[in-house]
Amino acid sequence: MNKVTPAKPAGTRNVDEITGSRRLRRMRKADWSRRLVRETRLTVDDLIWPIFIVEGNDLRVPIDAMSGVFRLSVDQAVREAERAAGLGIPAIATFPNVELSLRDQTGSNILDPDNVINKATRAIKEAVPEIGIITDAALDPFTSHGHDGILREGIIVNDETVEQVAAAAVLQAAAGSDIIAPSDMMDGRIGAIRDALDANGFQDVAIMSYATKFASAFYGPYRDAIGTAGLLKGDKKTYYLDHANTDEAIREAEQDLAEGADMLMVKPGLPYLDIIRRLKDEFAIPTFAYQVSGEYAMIKAAAANGWIDGDKAMLESLLAFKRAGCDGILTYFAPQVAEMLKA
Ligand code: PBG
Repeated sequence: MNKVTPAKPAGTRNVDEITGSRRLRRMRKADWSRRLVRETRLTVDDLIWPIFIVEGNDLRVPIDAMSGVFRLSVDQAVREAERAAGLGIPAIATFPNVELSLRDQTGSNILDPDNVINKATRAIKEAVPEIGIITDAALDPFTSHGHDGILREGIIVNDETVEQVAAAAVLQAAAGSDIIAPSDMMDGRIGAIRDALDANGFQDVAIMSYATKFASAFYGPYRDAIGTAGLLKGDKKTYYLDHANTDEAIREAEQDLAEGADMLMVKPGLPYLDIIRRLKDEFAIPTFAYQVSGEYAMIKAAAANGWIDGDKAMLESLLAFKRAGCDGILTYFAPQVAEMLKA
């Protein structure tokens, strides 16, 4: 039988006529050539590990929606910080689950120098001085209503909240925090925190601004982890950014930099890669993303069902942040990734 070559439709060109001599697949033909031309890489130096802290001793309380993540008592947090430092992870970020009896209308427990977050910072600093500690100065874990600000007659009052956040930042710095990362999105908080830190001798404590924190559905599992899910009424749309906006994100970042932010953060992460790229191109300063609880939970849940390869999806999602322009990523996957990168 004769082999039949299908006839090209009249007037069409062959591939060489279309591409000239350029064939982009040449550099993809083998692992060695792909490695040679690879533009971005993920390393352990890119990782910041968020951990949850509770009062108590020897506690590791699992979080339902975040398989593999625990609320840790301070002693356990110290052990995990030691593990992280051993893996080469540069910094951890701590978030408290505060006892309900200590939460009130104004989040006053944030001003206790011995609250669970400050205790954790002191203990970690003493045991593992080589790891960076990032603390959040937002009120939501401390308020009885789960909002990031002081609530008066249905309104989150800006300036009073800022005063409290700035005072909390000074206490966190005194406990040993290296970077204050306020996640509340009140106007003027960066400048107020910078002034308060400087006035108290903490010139070397940096500020990572959650400059562009969007009102998002992806925070769900986190609210379960810190125990605000059942408390929060309404939403955070009067202070977090509208997730339809990108010019407004630029104005937020510009403002925070003018007030003294050392680094910027975009949150959530993966659905906001366009914002990361815009900020990096516009300001060329250290830029971070927070791969939030919902993003973590989605990868974990799909992997647990056998629907995706969890490890590959994790690495692909983290590399995407680097490609978009991030200098680093806050991710609950940090120790898992660090182990994999070491292997
Ligand atoms: C609030 C805060 C949030 C997260 C960290 N601090 C969002 C919220 O509860 O509204 C989310 C982190 C995550 O989802 O992993 N200040």
